[in-house]
Amino acid sequence: MEKDKLNLPQDPLTLFHQWFELAVSAEPNDPDAMALATSTPDGHPVVRMILLKQADQRGFKFHSNEQSLKGRHLAMNPNAALCFHWKSLHMQVCVQGTVEIAPDSETDEYFATRPYERQIGAWASDQTRPLENREILEKKIKEFQKKYPPGTVPRPPRWVGYILNPRRIEFWWSHPHRLHDRFEYTREENGIWNLQRLYP
Ligand SMILES: Cc1cc2nc3c(=O)[nH]c(=O)nc-3n(C[C@H](O)[C@H](O)[C@H](O)COP(=O)(O)O)c2cc1C
Repeated sequence: MEKDKLNLPQDPLTLFHQWFELAVSAEPNDPDAMALATSTPDGHPVVRMILLKQADQRGFKFHSNEQSLKGRHLAMNPNAALCFHWKSLHMQVCVQGTVEIAPDSETDEYFATRPYERQIGAWASDQTRPLENREILEKKIKEFQKKYPPGTVPRPPRWVGYILNPRRIEFWWSHPHRLHDRFEYTREENGIWNLQRLYP
């Protein structure tokens, strides 16, 4: 039987950007939202939504608090997975790989472009730690506003950029009768991507 000649780019990042562009034009909310799965040291998975900031040859970049649950997981086990679901397009992209922390200079530069309220929020929030009541958070916001007027807010050292370097990316596109298209890219040690079609 003749092998399927997939008319797809050799580099999955090219295909990702094509799909992401479609998502940006089609999704009413958060086309950049993705689920991030990490694991506890004894192998229990935990998943939550985050926002994609950038996707390039290094991988998929997002920002978070290094002391949050995900941050503590990633420090112990850098293996993680992402999943995008663009409901309006009936498309899904799943990514697996290894996460590393982005260079400080790059994250400083990006943090400086964030709206003032978000910069202050990053200082005031001990993400994922217990919070007795909302007033405590609001008090901390006021304190940090006093400490850092607009234009002077440094990046909290625990607020970091993460880059998930992919080793597998699967593109899923819904078809009638559950006979979906699935394309799997896997990366070899030498960086070459292999592409194959999967049963739905
Ligand atoms: C659409 C959406 C986007 C989000 N984006 C981020 C994000 O980019 N970074 C982040 O730290 N949390 C983000 N959150 C909050 C996370 O889902 C989560 O509550 C938080 O990061 C704490 O997770 P953890 O306790 O598992 O570390 C987002 C939530 C939603 C619903």
